[in-house]
Amino acid sequence: MSGIQGYRALSHGKVILIGEHSAVYGEPAIVLPLHEAQLSAHLKIRNDSVRTIDCEYFHGLIDDAQDNLRNIQVLINRLSRDFSLDGVGFDLSITSSIPHARGMGSSAAVAVAIIRVFAQLAERSINFAQEFEYAQIAENIAHSRASGMDSAAVASDSAVWFKRDETISTFGFETPGILVVADTGITGQTRTAVSDVRSLMQSPAMSIAHKAFEGINRLGQLAYDCAQYLRQCELSQLGIAMNQAHDILSELSVSSAELDTLVKSARNAGALGAKLTGSGRGGCIITLAENGDKADTISHALRKSGAVRLWQVPLISKGIR
Ligand code: MEV
Repeated sequence: MSGIQGYRALSHGKVILIGEHSAVYGEPAIVLPLHEAQLSAHLKIRNDSVRTIDCEYFHGLIDDAQDNLRNIQVLINRLSRDFSLDGVGFDLSITSSIPHARGMGSSAAVAVAIIRVFAQLAERSINFAQEFEYAQIAENIAHSRASGMDSAAVASDSAVWFKRDETISTFGFETPGILVVADTGITGQTRTAVSDVRSLMQSPAMSIAHKAFEGINRLGQLAYDCAQYLRQCELSQLGIAMNQAHDILSELSVSSAELDTLVKSARNAGALGAKLTGSGRGGCIITLAENGDKADTISHALRKSGAVRLWQVPLISKGIR
């Protein structure tokens, strides 16, 4: 073990371009890293065996905090065992600019930063596949049978083409255009949204179940289309596909009045497309702007319509790791 007593590791947020909810049923998804929203895990070694965890997300939260701390504790126990760190005391603190429970991958980012800081402490080099597997230990507790797309996007540091239980491939493209991400400021529970979509799929009313299945299949097809639009720089087509995805997600009951207001405002301000991103009900939307000037106009409109935070991200991914 190194003589240094403090270790720090970073991770970042993510946005789903296409494929939330349908990914749970094995359809493909495209997930982009959001490097502009960062999370840091800082670990200080103690000279006793006491372990403390201070995660700023969970200050003031009661029910959610218990769940989230449980997944972190299970992950830490596993890392301690695998990295031979049992009995090592530490103070772990987590700070973040990724808003919690807004569909931006905050729980996966917590897990990945913890994995990285423990790997540093144990002087282990850890590859993408290992990071993904460990992150899923925490994510499966937080979201119950999470598809893994958040862990994949956060651990890879790159855009990913994600299909449940298949090899995850990173995805390189350099498409002109800017994504504007806007936060409603309202929290959404992934677990509840996923379970409500499942209820529609399993509805005893055949017409409801059939429509839900169709929506999920259509989202899968849109993911294939979007991959092609990204590679061929077809921005308008990409925007249309995003609009279609939002409509399907609304039919699947995971939009909300606030998300719809932001989506409408972005479209009226000239966005090529706009949709909710993440599990929905609260959280964020993503919108596609042709260039920086349009992105500024859209951002201004979104702020006026109630967005509490905004990020502008160029539509470029190097497809690394
Ligand atoms: C959550 O970021 C994305 C969902 O599709 C759930 C999952 O894939 O585990 C809603």
